Amino acid sequence: MSSSRDIRDLWTSFFEARGHKRIPSSSLIPVGDPTLLFTTAGMVQLKPWFMGLAEPPARRLISIQKVLRTSDIEAVGNERNQTFFEMLGNFSVGDYFKDEVIPWAWELATTPWPNGLGLEPERVWATIYLDDEESFDLWRKVGIPAERIVRFGEKENYWFAGPVGPCGPNTEINYDFGEGFGCRRPDCGPNCENPKPDGSGECDRFLEFWNLVFMTLYQAEDGSRTPLPQRNVDTGAGFERWATLRLWLEGVDWRGKPKDWRALGVRPTNYDTDLFGPLLDTIGGIVGKSYEEASPQEQRAMRIIADHSRAATFLIAEGLTPSNEGRGYVLRRLIRRATTYGQRLKQGEQYLARTAATIVDIMSHAYEQLEQQREFVLKVLRGEEARFFETLGSGRAQIADFLRARPDRKLTGRELFYLWDTHGFPPELTLELLAEEGAGVSDMDEFERELEAQRERSRSASRFEGEAERIQAYATLGLEPTTFLGYDTLTATAAVRGLVTEGRVATALEATETHGARVEVVLDRTPFYAEGGGQVGDKGDLVWDGGRFVVEDTQAVGEGGVIAHVGRLVEGRLAAGMQVEARVDPELRADTMRNHTATHILHAALRQTLGSHVRQAGSYVGPDRLRFDFTHLEALTPEQIAEVEALANRVVRQNIEVHVSMEPYEEAIAGGALAFFGEKYAETVRVVGICEPEADRCFSKELCGGTHCHASGEVGVIIIVHETSIGAGMRRIEAVTGRAAVERIRRNEDALAGVAALLRAQPGEIGARIQALQEEVEALRRKVQALERAAARDEAEELIARARNVDGVSVLAARVTASSTDYLRELGDGLKAKLGSAVILLGADIGGRPAFVAMSTPDVASRVPAGDVVRAASQASGGGGGGRPELAQGGGTDVSKLDEALAAGAKLAEQKLMT
Ligand code: SER
Repeated sequence: MSSSRDIRDLWTSFFEARGHKRIPSSSLIPVGDPTLLFTTAGMVQLKPWFMGLAEPPARRLISIQKVLRTSDIEAVGNERNQTFFEMLGNFSVGDYFKDEVIPWAWELATTPWPNGLGLEPERVWATIYLDDEESFDLWRKVGIPAERIVRFGEKENYWFAGPVGPCGPNTEINYDFGEGFGCRRPDCGPNCENPKPDGSGECDRFLEFWNLVFMTLYQAEDGSRTPLPQRNVDTGAGFERWATLRLWLEGVDWRGKPKDWRALGVRPTNYDTDLFGPLLDTIGGIVGKSYEEASPQEQRAMRIIADHSRAATFLIAEGLTPSNEGRGYVLRRLIRRATTYGQRLKQGEQYLARTAATIVDIMSHAYEQLEQQREFVLKVLRGEEARFFETLGSGRAQIADFLRARPDRKLTGRELFYLWDTHGFPPELTLELLAEEGAGVSDMDEFERELEAQRERSRSASRFEGEAERIQAYATLGLEPTTFLGYDTLTATAAVRGLVTEGRVATALEATETHGARVEVVLDRTPFYAEGGGQVGDKGDLVWDGGRFVVEDTQAVGEGGVIAHVGRLVEGRLAAGMQVEARVDPELRADTMRNHTATHILHAALRQTLGSHVRQAGSYVGPDRLRFDFTHLEALTPEQIAEVEALANRVVRQNIEVHVSMEPYEEAIAGGALAFFGEKYAETVRVVGICEPEADRCFSKELCGGTHCHASGEVGVIIIVHETSIGAGMRRIEAVTGRAAVERIRRNEDALAGVAALLRAQPGEIGARIQALQEEVEALRRKVQALERAAARDEAEELIARARNVDGVSVLAARVTASSTDYLRELGDGLKAKLGSAVILLGADIGGRPAFVAMSTPDVASRVPAGDVVRAASQASGGGGGGRPELAQGGGTDVSKLDEALAAGAKLAEQKLMT
């Protein structure tokens, strides 16, 4: 019997025999591609080649691409929908076209196994785009009769990579499972959506198993289409679907046991294949019931867990971790949805680390990254599931509570938000859970408003007060973009284009009148770098004859390329139209550049040391230091930090050239440049590489608009000073370079020398000397404790002698010296143990106020409750207190009445004993 692995081999060998080169599956996260959240098709990584922007490794290519489609996660659970799957693809980049690929597709689909998929030719149908006569003729030629070639419009037979990008008409190949699966209407055919006659769902007769797209056009943002420089072919075949077809044809289940699908009248689904079988077994093992034995509802939950586990496993293996934004949020939703359904199957079980282990086992042969990232994946899943698990019960109870209070069975938007904010229930999940119970949400707008308000709260407070007025002021100025000169020079003569202060446009300002107010100056051109890409804005000054403006910060104004120099007019008069000399502070800029280049070096060093799951999640690059946030699950060990630092400094010492080039975006990405997640990039991007050109080797390559050193050696030295967690799966390192690093080393050397001098030791002996001191301190501490205990014993002895016997009960009221009520209690316990039947009242001046502890032994407590004694004493010194009959404490306000108070307490005790 065949397995899915055989299908991988069949695909590869069939196309390799026809001159194709196999390329590896690209990442599920289209690195830096802002047009797509995830890789949704095999052609995604080919886009630049299809568009003629870069040269492909070969003109005939194949891949088996992992893809993720997340548009309808809620639908996953039925037998058809999946988020994660694999696509077999063959591609022509300006090479062959329809007349070659259509006969090949026919040959591969209908040649008997093991040289082809082995479909019965009479069961194969084709769909074509309306007037695609070429494809019609080619299908006719291979032997499909005209009545099995069906025409459709753009919805069915036109394929787009997204709203913008290469596109073209397609032809799809379908397998006919037979009339028994269909609607039995005369118009039944591929893409049929009619209901089945027995009402058991939609027509199920045809399975689309291969899509051949003829990519000849480019669709722009405005919807217009223009020809690509060449004709391309992009095909995609659902790998899991091919596996189901083999099960059907061979009449077996995934274990190879005979199963006559035709006789049973059942179509195998993707979940019946060996890509899911072992996974469903793992889930069945946890639940204690096999997939086959489970009820339809349980089977649905099992499918959800299986699908979501696959998606989550692959995503995490690529370095993504759950979060509340973007891709990380999709991952979080998948995990939480799987956990929720897992709890319905069997409460108290955690599934995902176990299902992921099975996925790694069965898929690593095709994706070795899974095995490499096994521990990381399992840990992330375990952590995320456990965290959600804790609030799952309370969240569900909360939903039930909310519903009880609402006769219309509709939660408010605010309640939906509360469940997300407090219990971590993704709103989509809550809606799904509600829908299952015939409930819903009354006001989604309210939810959106709450969400927006929360975003607003968490957004860092606007850097500019009166931001709205400021933007308005700029709008009235209508400025041209500022020309940025700062990559090449730090000084320039420029003309003042606009002045804005306190949200208003000014034409001229006098230093004597602005009184140090914050002013923004826009020039026609500038060497000042505006804050962006993590790098802070430049500081410096603008000078002219008789005047000076101190630039404290440089900021972009909106998105239009206008640069504002923010600072104070300290001398003279500044007016629009004037010429000024703009001078960036060269030392600060050089420090910042060192930190920026060092950030790239550290990023690459972290990836080399920890693995390619490390991705930049944010950064701060200033003159003083650099901060770099990245995805990684665990704290770095001291050894790892040392290794990263050593590698980074080696690159610094090698003094490698920092090379800057402008490249088309797609080309840069295809060439391996790292882009920042979620960032929007222009079509042409700036690529900063730390490369040895003669060796054709780059240590680091990133899309970046920042300013950099010319060679790595200028960084001087990199010292990592800090490594911390900043949330689940996120780490932060801070480092200093150049001047700041040398200053830090000097400071530390001096401090060390100072400590050594204090200890009268050589720096190398400090550790041993401190350890010896600590031991000495510990020995002294123990000695002091022993002395204190002895002193307390003595004090107790002395106090016992002062106890009065009242009717067989010892009454002791005494003033002692104590620094805390704890000591009073300890002392009281010691006295109680010795006195037998007793009432004890101890008082002390603690921090200038009277404090009391009273105790009555159990045999006396009902006659003389300790609380009453303390109250009498406290009240006598202007305070209050109370407690249990056997132990109470209290305090007064007037310490001069301490003795009086003790006497009052003792008197009360004696009176009570005598009555
Ligand atoms: N891009 C097409 C699809 O995803 C064919 O590969 O269906």
